[in-house]
Amino acid sequence: MRTVWWDPAGPTLHMIDQRQLPAQLTVLALHTPEAVADAIRSMAVRGAPAIGVAAAFGLALAAAFASDPQDVVVRVDQAAELLRLARPKAANLRWAIDETLRRAGDRGSETFGLSLAVAAQALADEDVAINRQMGLHGADLLKDGDTVLHHCNTGALATVDYGTALGVIRTAHEQGKHLHVLVDETRPRLQGARLTAWELDQHGIDHAIIADSAAGRMLQQGEVNAVLVGADRVAANGDVANKIGTYMVALAAHDNRVPFYCVVPTSTVDPSTPDGAAIPIEERDPQEVLDLIHQGQQVAPEGSRALNPAFDITPARLVTAFVTEVGILRPPYPEALAKVRSS
Ligand code: MRU
Repeated sequence: MRTVWWDPAGPTLHMIDQRQLPAQLTVLALHTPEAVADAIRSMAVRGAPAIGVAAAFGLALAAAFASDPQDVVVRVDQAAELLRLARPKAANLRWAIDETLRRAGDRGSETFGLSLAVAAQALADEDVAINRQMGLHGADLLKDGDTVLHHCNTGALATVDYGTALGVIRTAHEQGKHLHVLVDETRPRLQGARLTAWELDQHGIDHAIIADSAAGRMLQQGEVNAVLVGADRVAANGDVANKIGTYMVALAAHDNRVPFYCVVPTSTVDPSTPDGAAIPIEERDPQEVLDLIHQGQQVAPEGSRALNPAFDITPARLVTAFVTEVGILRPPYPEALAKVRSS
């Protein structure tokens, strides 16, 4: 099932409200770009490809309410600005907005609004097809009986359907390989414990949730055959920006000679970013850290403050291979990544 989908009658953008999972499966029906921006900001929809596609449909919603072709352009430009700012550091969000505008073509045309919806739908469909391809390439890296460690949520919820790293796990499972997945909780928003565990449960894939701080121990004990993660952005040299905590997992995997695979569509590779130091990191509301409730009580003392960087940088030297829709890429990454981005 798709997690973000468009109904042209209305028009309406539907999406699973990820804030409610796993307690409730709620579907939001959004009719304005403001509502889409709010859903991205509040992480009702999250994950790099999913927010990109949601924003693309947000542009189509902006056009739907315009009175004439001139009004369409004004409303779409305003919506593009609003949507870009919903998670301002997310490269995929900006890419999807620019790509949708580019594909929709002539802004003065009577059919510009319709073309935006067509372009957004194409991005959504391509995302699913790419994930399927990555799944097939990545599944070759996994053997029957393997234990895989996974960070954050990279599944259907983070994309339009199927997923990146979780898509690889799903493909291997569909091929009949018996996998055991160690699911990092992924503090502070718990995308692993809430969303990845929910998705694995839906597909009947054997898994256990672990505290983020347990990952090093599992790797050191020889209990993990491979680590699989997604990425928010890959720099030209192969440095990876991904959910906070990825770097520590990569370090522990490297120290214990466990392969660390990063599963990314080639659109996530940004040739204009030379290395990880050039990637801006989203700082989120400290309350996301402070609001943890345990046994009915807030954990943090009232007077404490918190820091909340949402992503970190894993240096390319810690990445064993990238799984992309065009195949597996191995070092040296500057050459391998440049080749796929130019093909
Ligand atoms: O802050 P989030 O939950 O939107 O971050 C998502 C991730 O870090 C994923 O690993 C990433 O989007 C790539 S997987 C499709």
